[in-house]
This record gives sequence, structure tokens and C-alpha cells, in this order.
Amino acid sequence: MKILVTGGAGFIGSNFIHQILQQYPGDEIVNYDLLTYAGNLENLKRVEDDSRYSFVQGDICNREALQDAARGVDAIVHFAAESHVDRSIYSSDEFLQTNIIGTQTVIDVVRELQIPKLVHISTDEVYGDVKAPEKSHENSRIYPSSPYSAAKAGSDMLVIAAIRTHQVPAMITRGSNNYGPFQFPEKIIPLFITNAMTDNYLPLYDGGTQIRDWLYVADHCSGIDTVLRKGKIGEIYNIGAEQYPEITNEQLTHMILELVGKEKHLIKPVQGLRPGHDQRYSLNAAKLRALGWQPSVTIEEGLKRTVQWYQENQDWWERVKSGAYQEYYKKHYR
Ligand code: NAD
Ligand code: TYD
Repeated sequence: MKILVTGGAGFIGSNFIHQILQQYPGDEIVNYDLLTYAGNLENLKRVEDDSRYSFVQGDICNREALQDAARGVDAIVHFAAESHVDRSIYSSDEFLQTNIIGTQTVIDVVRELQIPKLVHISTDEVYGDVKAPEKSHENSRIYPSSPYSAAKAGSDMLVIAAIRTHQVPAMITRGSNNYGPFQFPEKIIPLFITNAMTDNYLPLYDGGTQIRDWLYVADHCSGIDTVLRKGKIGEIYNIGAEQYPEITNEQLTHMILELVGKEKHLIKPVQGLRPGHDQRYSLNAAKLRALGWQPSVTIEEGLKRTVQWYQENQDWWERVKSGAYQEYYKKHYR
């Protein structure tokens, strides 16, 4: 299968590309990515000489460039997005442009070139927070809290409308919070690991009582691959670890400190940086499990692997954390 991946230089996209090339010797990948602050070709060093892999730098909002890159592919797996809640609260323009206009452009290109399959990568955040013990199902209410999740919900609606109006052969996945290698250190897990390693404070928001359904990135990628190969056109699939017992951000922070070997005094409680902070996400992923998928990495094992990866790849995140990122960090955390 020849697959065009949008946003393949980001965290999940690069893990997906590694996984596909390793698992399917006959597959080819075109990686189409704008290389924003979150895109990093270093994530793909291991495959850059693989003849089955190619990279095109481009914006998903640029219809002609995307068409040129997508000609002849069997499927598009659409990861490209602005992905960070905190940044969307500061300024949402790029979120609307890439996540909404960009997704409509991807849909248009799928129609124009008659590409046989589109997998649109969305998030559990479109459901907003859910009270325990409820879980979000694929048909649960869409009730986003942040500009990020609202823009993702908008992109889902455009895909659903394209399926209904134009019979675009699309599917949607809604994954829960991911973690693992190559994650940009603005999200809580890599931020706290790298801050702890350098004896910097861990800014724990709003008492740390919030709950996320942490999914190891390789499990998310295998879930997306299951949808790509076995999913039914027109359907939506949740991809969640369905972690039990659930863990709070505070518990997660303690686990990270323990693995890095640092003390709790590094935790700095902060308030007010995340207005509209969702309390709890929880997914029901039975529909995807029925296709034969299941997550294979526990949070304990996944965190161990992740901490080890950041310890072994300090050059990678030190480069990422330098330059423009420092300005963002200083401004955001003052
Ligand atoms: P990321 O921020 O690490 O990477 C995004 C990638 O998209 C970057 O390589 C960036 O350069 C590229 N990009 C951004 N704007 C673009 C544009 N206009 N044109 C082309 N490329 C562009 O994001 P991620 O964490 O890997 O998330 C990937 C997808 O998965 C997103 O759609 C996100 O909403 C979704 N998702 C993420 C998580 C998570 O926990 N990270 C969970 C569920 C779903
Ligand atoms: P984050 O990793 O930004 O992902 P998302 O907002 O998409 O869920 O945040 C995960 C949780 O961690 C969320 O409840 C906010 C919290 N958090 C902190 O406590 N401190 C931080 O510095 C960050 C970035 C997040």
C-alpha cells in the first residue's frame, strides 16, 4: 500500500511511519509536512535512506502542492494539526487554519484524485470531559472545551459531512492522550521528564486531580493501522487504553519523579494557566477491539520506556528545547 501521511514529522506521525515501514515491507510512505515548530526531520533519521520513504515539505492548506504529493497513493492518513491546548488558548488562528481549513483541503484532494481511503486522526478531547464512571462512545455528545479541541471537532464535522454529501471514503479515529518517544516537550509527560532531569520545576496545574487515559504511542499507531486496513468506511473509532485504575496528573507526576530519581519538592503547583481545564477523559474503545486491536503497553511499562528514551536522547530534546521554545516557555510559565 502507498500511504501519504500528513504531519509525519511530528510525534505520532513519525512513530506511525517507523511502525508501518517496519511491519509492512511492501508499503511505501510519502510524508507531507510543513515543519512547524512541532515538526522535526530528526525523528525520521532512521528511515531517511529507505527507498520506500520520501518527504515533501508543504502546507496541507496548499491544494496544488498537496495534490502533487498525493497523486497515486492508496490512502491518506491525516495527522497534521496544531496540537497543543495551552498554545490554542493564547492564540487560535493557526488552529483554525490548519485543523479546519487544512482538513477541508485534504478532503477536497481525496475527492479530486479519487483516493480510495482517508483516515482522519482526531482526539478524545472533542467529547470534552466526562464524569466518572461514564465513558465516551463514538456517538457521545461533541462538547469541546478549548480552541484546540473545538478546531478538531470542526475538522471531524467536515469529514462527516464529506462522507454524507460526497461519499468520501473516510474514517475517523479518536485517540486518547499519547506519550512515548519523539513527543515535543510542551506536553506534560516529556516536559516533566526533561524538567526533572535538569532539576527544573514541574508546573502541576490546578491541583493535579485531572485524569487522562494515557495511551502508549505504539498502541495508538497499531490502532490507527487496524482502522486503515480493517475499518469500515464512514465509521468513527475510539482508540483508548481504557486504563484501570485511572491515574491523576499528580500520581503520574510522582511516577515520573520516581523513574527519573528526583524528589517531590520539584513539583510546583500552579493555577490559572489552563482555563476550561477538562477534568477527566475516558474512552470506550470496544468498537476497535472488535476489529482485533488491543493496547499492549501498561502505563508503568510505557513510562519506563519513555523515561529511558529521553535519558538516551538528551541531544534530541536539548535541541528542541532551545531557541523559540524557550521564549514560549518563559512567556507561558513566566
Ligand atoms: P505534533 O504537534 O507533534 O505534530 C504535528 C505535525 O503536523 C508536525 O510535524 C507539524 O509540522 C505538522 N503540521 C502542522 N501544521 C501543518 C500544516 N499546515 N501542513 C502540514 N503539516 C503541518 O502532533 P501529534 O501529537 O503528533 O498529533 C498528531 C495528530 O494526532 C493531531 O491531529 C492530533 O490532534 C492527534 N492526536 C494527538 C494526541 C496526543 O496525545 N498527542 C492524542 C490524540 C490525537
Ligand atoms: P497536555 O499534555 O498539555 O495534554 P492535553 O491538554 O491535550 O490533555 O496536558 C495533560 C494534562 O496535564 C492536563 O490535565 C494539563 C496538565 N498539565 C500540567 O499540569 N502541567 C503542564 O505543564 C502541562 C503542559 C499540562
